[in-house]
Amino acid sequence: MAPTAADNAFVEFDRVQKSYDGETLVVKDLNLSMPRGEFLTMLGPSGSGKTTCLMMLAGFETATHGDIRIGGTSINHIPPHKRGIGMVFQNYALFPHMTVAENLAFPLEVRKLGKSEREAKVQRALDMVQMGKFGGRRPAQLSGGQQQRIALARALVFEPELVLMDEPLGALDKQLREHMQFEITRIAHNLGITTVYVTHDQTEALTMSDRVAVFDDGRIQQLAPPDELYEAPQNSFVAQFIGENNTLTGVIKSIDGGRCAVQLDSGEVIDAMPVNVSKPGERTKVSIRPERVEINKSRLSPDAHTLKAEVLEFIYMGDIFRTRLRVAGREDFIVKTRNAPDQVRLQPGTTIEIGWLPEDCRALDA
Ligand SMILES: Nc1ncnc2c1ncn2[C@@H]1O[C@H](COP(=O)(O)OP(=O)(O)O)[C@@H](O)[C@H]1O
Ligand SMILES: [Mg+2]
Repeated sequence: MAPTAADNAFVEFDRVQKSYDGETLVVKDLNLSMPRGEFLTMLGPSGSGKTTCLMMLAGFETATHGDIRIGGTSINHIPPHKRGIGMVFQNYALFPHMTVAENLAFPLEVRKLGKSEREAKVQRALDMVQMGKFGGRRPAQLSGGQQQRIALARALVFEPELVLMDEPLGALDKQLREHMQFEITRIAHNLGITTVYVTHDQTEALTMSDRVAVFDDGRIQQLAPPDELYEAPQNSFVAQFIGENNTLTGVIKSIDGGRCAVQLDSGEVIDAMPVNVSKPGERTKVSIRPERVEINKSRLSPDAHTLKAEVLEFIYMGDIFRTRLRVAGREDFIVKTRNAPDQVRLQPGTTIEIGWLPEDCRALDA
């Protein structure tokens, strides 16, 4: 089929608000447009409104204001069984009295498929999650990871166009979780399914998603592909929520085109890139990734501002060195360097000079 306008906005949230009690908004102003086939993750702290958004999309909750559309049609006008949505949750709730195969056949019976068609689809879905031989077992006879695979197969068995997953891997141990992260994205991409995935785990979000919507306080703080989110956070919340980050506070001293000078509260001046600051005198939090700090001054431009730093702690981590410094009155400034043959191991007690490229230091909202 040729893509249509509705394919580019297959799932749309249009100025959506939600209040449960008629007073406080838990979703404040949600605007989101997903193309068909996209894997999008809603990432954010507990209580930021992620599950509420998923429930509204699934039709279990109604929006207080605004409109949600699937394939160009407002979901209010689509009966639940015609929405074609598969769902997987953390407590996967398989029916305990049914076998695995019966669990999978259930959504097909609801949709009135015949027996032979049901059996073929059930087997295909089980094979997809590498559980082809387990159709005759009951859920209690499976490990947690196997049950979660079955829950995934049950969500996919009726070939939905849209799959919603709410922290589906939260109950699994680390190794299995990482394996399932890979499996889920592989299956979703192979089948061309549009997926909305919810997690509070930033690594999971970064590794699985085409785009990530970072939620806080009922709003999307930033919606971007993983690399952009990590390298170009648009505000302090996103900078601190995603990855490790050094934060220094100060006041904008001068601002000129793509550069600004920031006078830190400790008195020193540093170079930064103005992101959401606009004029001298404004307070700012500047954000520098630990791997973008330069400890070799000769690699910086001659007029770059540098800071004095005292080495407090050196941690050998195998692939990288993690060094904690006292910088601008803080004792939690982290530098990460690669364990390369010519890399120096900084000695605690010594004083060094550090700097960075202005574009690696982002002046954000205070
Ligand atoms: N059924 C409900 N009734 C009343 N308040 C709710 C209900 N579900 C969630 N909330 C509240 O809405 C806010 C957002 O919750 P939720 O969408 O579950 O966030 P998240 O999934 O990001 O942790 C929270 O303050 C939560 O307490
Ligand atoms: Mg939730």
